[in-house]
Amino acid sequence: MKKFGILAHPAKHSLSPKMHRSAFKSLNIDATYDAFDVKPNDVEDFMKNLHSKRIDGLNVSMPYKEEVIQYLDGIDFVAKKIGAVNCIYKKSGKYYGTNYDWKGIIEPLKKRINLKGRKVLLLGAGGAAKAACYGLKKEGAKVFILNRTFESAKVLARKYGFKATETAEFMPEIVINCTSVGFDNEDESPINPAVFKDVKIVLDIIYGHKTRFVKDAKTACVPCVLTGIEVLLHQGYASFEKWSGKKAPREIMSRAVAKRTPRIK
Ligand code: ATR
Repeated sequence: MKKFGILAHPAKHSLSPKMHRSAFKSLNIDATYDAFDVKPNDVEDFMKNLHSKRIDGLNVSMPYKEEVIQYLDGIDFVAKKIGAVNCIYKKSGKYYGTNYDWKGIIEPLKKRINLKGRKVLLLGAGGAAKAACYGLKKEGAKVFILNRTFESAKVLARKYGFKATETAEFMPEIVINCTSVGFDNEDESPINPAVFKDVKIVLDIIYGHKTRFVKDAKTACVPCVLTGIEVLLHQGYASFEKWSGKKAPREIMSRAVAKRTPRIK
């Protein structure tokens, strides 16, 4: 039996166990997937004991995506460039890290629009925003980063040849929320809804409830409004394929998490 799971704190809210268990079951793979809710003081111990716990792979979520790197035998180019790991896998008895968060953000957008040359307003400059930048650069989008701390927006923009901005007056076609605003407080949005006027696609990385950001985009009649469920799924497909070597059963995984998520009206 193979052992997988998600390392996070808190981890209770995560839909990853439901999503991956459904995939393993549907392909008759003998594997478990658990939520490992590990407190900050216990992370070192947890990571140093992956072998004795017989862990085969992990997803990593907040707040450990950077911290786990020091305990791994290596990380790939993408994880290095983004500076964070969200997927750990075992190869020849060693543990390695990669990052599929960028796929989680880019793939749902790419399915709907060619990102090349598109004006994107990216909200946030933390871990999720860094992953988004990696993918948006690959696709040739024109990105403007707006963040509460302007200096962090400038540092991130410089790394990828993007622009840091303090306003959204440049009429973006795509708006991506990579801040944590709306995660705890459902009434808070990181941006004034006036920004949505001519926007074609909106993506929020938050899932689990309909955020103010998503509600505002719907009210403004943005033609395509995507929630964090899409992000969860697309990074999940990639993790599953890395671990199992099999094509992810997308329909099944999607149905497993959709059941638990409020529909966007
Ligand atoms: P993650 O890994 O999920 O991206 P993070 O690295 O802690 O988490 O980043 C959180 C992002 O949300 C940051 O861009 C943060 O802005 P700062 O760089 O100014 O800290 C943003 N953020 C968090 N709380 C916010 C708030 N109340 N208003 C605006 N932005 C906020």
